[in-house]
Amino acid sequence: MVMSVLAEPTRPRTKVDPSLADFHARDVDFGLDASRITDWCGGDTWRTLYFNALSITFPVGERFFISSVAHFRNRITDPKQRAEVAAFVTQEAMHTREHVAYNEAIKTIADVDAMEAILNDHIENVVKKHLPPLGRLAVTCALEHFTAIMAKDTLENPPQLEGAVPEYARLWTWHALEECEHKAVAFDVFQTVTEGKKNWLRVRIMPLVTSNFIRRNAQFMYKLMKAQGHHRSPIAWAKLLWSIFGNPGPLRRIIPAYLKYYNPNFHPNQIDDSAVLERTKKLVDSWA
Ligand SMILES: [Fe+2]
Ligand SMILES: [Fe+2]
Repeated sequence: MVMSVLAEPTRPRTKVDPSLADFHARDVDFGLDASRITDWCGGDTWRTLYFNALSITFPVGERFFISSVAHFRNRITDPKQRAEVAAFVTQEAMHTREHVAYNEAIKTIADVDAMEAILNDHIENVVKKHLPPLGRLAVTCALEHFTAIMAKDTLENPPQLEGAVPEYARLWTWHALEECEHKAVAFDVFQTVTEGKKNWLRVRIMPLVTSNFIRRNAQFMYKLMKAQGHHRSPIAWAKLLWSIFGNPGPLRRIIPAYLKYYNPNFHPNQIDDSAVLERTKKLVDSWA
């Protein structure tokens, strides 16, 4: 059974018609000011640090998403789905490019290469070693759920980016919009190649992905706290944790949406983000 799912594609490639996709990539250059890397988010050290830690994970993470989905590209025959896979790959490639530039700014205060090495090591020596391509696609589905619900939260809660340096606010808004737009692509590829018969795998892999996601983000926040000289201050930690979980904080707000993933009948489109997407599209399209 597993072997049939993992069999090499036999169908011939057909041309992709990008106009069939419901979304497209926007090529935007943000030109971030590296001198504001520790306080770009409204002068708030803690909100800034939370977003910076996320940015560190994106280039390595999104390259992994692209390769996980692209592996099954030739198993997709539906022209619209093929177009959406192509748009997904282009969006994630552009996100990677912009977060590489963003992380250059973080390199002025912290060792980003060492943190990326931790992620690469995990992918090469844990994920790729223990999971076949379908398992990697399930990991991607889980992480795409995280990015989609965090992105929706960012767009729906303007205080998150309140007072931010405009270039940084634009980058996060653009990225959040496109994460919401392509939130179902990896999921639908998983459903297509498994014929909807392996939701148990999608659900079972989520706790593992969650624990690693929390672990890595906590680790990178610690490294940024240390780089900025805050790691020995209990007050600084209290402020960071309050910023993330208090009042109610982005990571507390996403818990109900996160839990929906465990329903075997879940689909990403069951989470309605249409209103905020329409508003944000108009804004972001004016920058592209
Ligand atoms: Fe992305
Ligand atoms: Fe994504």
